[in-house]
Amino acid sequence: MQTAERLTKIPPYLFMTLRNKINEARGRGVDVISLAIGDPVEATPDNIIEALAEAARNKENHRYPTDEEWGMLAFREAVTRWYARRYDVSLDPKKEIVALIGSKEGCHHFALGVINPGDLVLVTDPGYPGYKPSIWFVGAEPHPIAMKEENKFLPDLSAIPSDVAKRATAFYLNYPNNPTGAVATVEFLTELVAFARDYDIAICYDNPYSEVVFNGERLSFLSIPGAKEVGVELNSLSKPYNMTGWRIGMACGNPDIVKAMATSKANTDSGVFNAVQYAGIEALDNCDAFIGEMLAVYGRRRAKVLATLKDLGWRYDPPAGTFYLWTPVPKGFTSSGFCDFVFEKTAVVLAPGAAYGVNGEGYVRFSLTVEDDRLDEALRRMREKIGVVSF
Ligand SMILES: Cc1ncc(COP(=O)(O)O)c(C=O)c1O
Repeated sequence: MQTAERLTKIPPYLFMTLRNKINEARGRGVDVISLAIGDPVEATPDNIIEALAEAARNKENHRYPTDEEWGMLAFREAVTRWYARRYDVSLDPKKEIVALIGSKEGCHHFALGVINPGDLVLVTDPGYPGYKPSIWFVGAEPHPIAMKEENKFLPDLSAIPSDVAKRATAFYLNYPNNPTGAVATVEFLTELVAFARDYDIAICYDNPYSEVVFNGERLSFLSIPGAKEVGVELNSLSKPYNMTGWRIGMACGNPDIVKAMATSKANTDSGVFNAVQYAGIEALDNCDAFIGEMLAVYGRRRAKVLATLKDLGWRYDPPAGTFYLWTPVPKGFTSSGFCDFVFEKTAVVLAPGAAYGVNGEGYVRFSLTVEDDRLDEALRRMREKIGVVSF
């Protein structure tokens, strides 16, 4: 059977490979602890579940979603209220917001709605592995932009050769950043808007960790003057409300891009289940305190991991945001070599930095989305079986 050539470009999905490794080990009776994937283990708040249950009992919601390609107006109005309250950003719910089946889906519809075959598209390296496949699927070419520790894992826009910037039509970025945990600054985002305007580059600012910031300011790209002229921000209910499985998010900003994404969606899916959108409204309107509670949970776990790493010889600047810790690997190891070593010794799974791009080599990522007692056990094993390492 013929399958599309475009699929041959796509490397095996990191988490599928890790899942197979974990399942295989568990099948052998090994007590595996995965600190690899970023998927909150705590439950979605009860009031959100209640809102879903109530909406699911209404037969009106069993039909195709309302305003299918844009999402329910009531959901988009809740997004408007949320952005105004949390980021002081004003959005027109009728023209500047489209509901998404998560921000991952948004990355894809951005490509379908904005990028032409043969285009050059900038992506940060290391970066979220979801971007490149979206770019390949539309016949365009990803161009990696290095993010270096000495530049606080922000791309140096002035180092992008002008012929590359001139050819590029779009740029995918994400801060607070997966995998590095770096956060953007107002200065950087201001430069980014100017860069995008100078070179006519559409920005896809993927911001699903906007609420997970420990040091520094929570920031929306859209709060920067001129941002709406050059791009959209993707956001998601997955991470702040423990709703990764519910599949709901939003793209906001430039009305032409939002409309293009809505057109792409209208011809792909039929929108988000209305009942999930009603639950989303409840989350956006009534769960600000919950975001703070989860931040305290991640903060507590982060402190535990940092204390252990410090005792074991790691000296590094912890990242300011996300529920990941992106750390250098000890001397003599590659990123995947170190993950294999840790796994063999402790049955703890870490994510190898190289899986996020060539500039991810030399790092590993710890995720804090694991129950406290499992994290304690993982750290106990690291202390006991790995011990002090050198750099
Ligand atoms: C940078 C980044 N973008 C998008 C996503 C996907 O989020 P969603 O669940 O909203 O599709 C993730 C998930 O880990 C992510 O890390």
